[in-house]
Amino acid sequence: MADDNGAHAGTWALPPHLSAPTEAPTGDQVVDADEAEEFLRIFHGENPDAGPVERRVAWVRTEIEMTGSYQHTTAELSFGARVAWRNAARCIGRLYWRSLRVRDMRAVRGATEVATQCVEHLRLAHNKGRLRPLITIFAPEVPGRPAPRIWNEQLIRYAGYRDADGGVLGDPRYVDFTSTVTSMGWQQPRERGRFDVLPLVVETPEEGPRLFPLPRTAIDEVRLTHPDHPWFAELGLRWHAVPAISNMRMVIGGVSYPAAPFNGWYMGTEIGARNLADADRYDMLPELANRLGLDTSRETTLWRDRALVELNRAVLHSYAEAGVTITDHHTESQHFLKHIDKEARAGRKCPADWSWIVPPVSGGLTPVFHRYYDTDHFKPEFVVDPDAAERGLKGCPAHYADHRPTPPEEEFKPVLWAYLRGPVATGPRAGSL
Ligand code: ARG
Repeated sequence: MADDNGAHAGTWALPPHLSAPTEAPTGDQVVDADEAEEFLRIFHGENPDAGPVERRVAWVRTEIEMTGSYQHTTAELSFGARVAWRNAARCIGRLYWRSLRVRDMRAVRGATEVATQCVEHLRLAHNKGRLRPLITIFAPEVPGRPAPRIWNEQLIRYAGYRDADGGVLGDPRYVDFTSTVTSMGWQQPRERGRFDVLPLVVETPEEGPRLFPLPRTAIDEVRLTHPDHPWFAELGLRWHAVPAISNMRMVIGGVSYPAAPFNGWYMGTEIGARNLADADRYDMLPELANRLGLDTSRETTLWRDRALVELNRAVLHSYAEAGVTITDHHTESQHFLKHIDKEARAGRKCPADWSWIVPPVSGGLTPVFHRYYDTDHFKPEFVVDPDAAERGLKGCPAHYADHRPTPPEEEFKPVLWAYLRGPVATGPRAGSL
């Protein structure tokens, strides 16, 4: 699925041909009935057993008129989530889109229960190392009732601490997030380390943002070793097993699910060629090159490239040794072309963003490099709202304060609107931590 730090590290701007995606619906908007119908037609078209679409469309249109939104059936929800993955232009791992498991947690709204279910998500996804693609879907936004959201970019992320001389201990990407959660009351470990797992921040309109440290038992990490260099272990590197994106909004048929954490498994380069290698992340290449005894005095020795390959070997080797699912960029590139083929045979376009699909090492060695892709934009989909992107990096307390739902114009007000509105949504926000 989408990467949180892909080719354009540090910026979330999409290339022009992929930009201007869905205006993500917010809590105070009535669901677009045409978008709902468009989704229902896709669902019934691909699932002939679901029965005639017309009846369902008529029902949903009425439901939207009455309530401003509609409820997906379990089958629609599962299908919608899988297709949102299928449409994720940045994800190279989409061959497995049908295998996504869906946890329907739409009834869950309270912060504690959201956090508890995120922890359970990590356990189920990890599955003793045989990672399972999984999504947990929390309450959707319905008019007048904003839904819970998760601030963190991923369920598991490492803190970054800036020290007095400007250096960073840990993941520099999360320096601001770390200081925000610290100011909100997060107890940093007595001894700070490079891989301190950040607490979850779950925000609800009723409770404001609340912190939930993850239990150690929900976090599996792989210590990195190298197949040929025993000293590699002394570098003390490790990474978490499950990549679970938690700040993207899933939009299905006009209904918006702002909290729907999902995971697949890692492709080695995400860790070995980005997280641990990027100069603005763990920046390990210079140290590694020294340990490897490479000549770093000139670029022409290609010491960076040589160190990078060894780092990526270590990642793939260590995950395999630990029995944690991982894939390499050569295999995954082939799978991706197979996926595109399958999609074409099903009569579908496969949207893809070249700059995210081509792996960050040895691009030209993989078949995904040597071609172009459809860049159309399809729904259902996962989107990153700009404010969610910012919260994921910096945190941003009291978010709901400026997003409190405003009652719609009288003439557009769905019949049951006032009745369905949650009791606290219009009042002042309860105190935050
Ligand atoms: N690139 C992100 C990371 O390093 C993970 C994005 C999702 N990746 C995945 N294989 N599902 O943590």
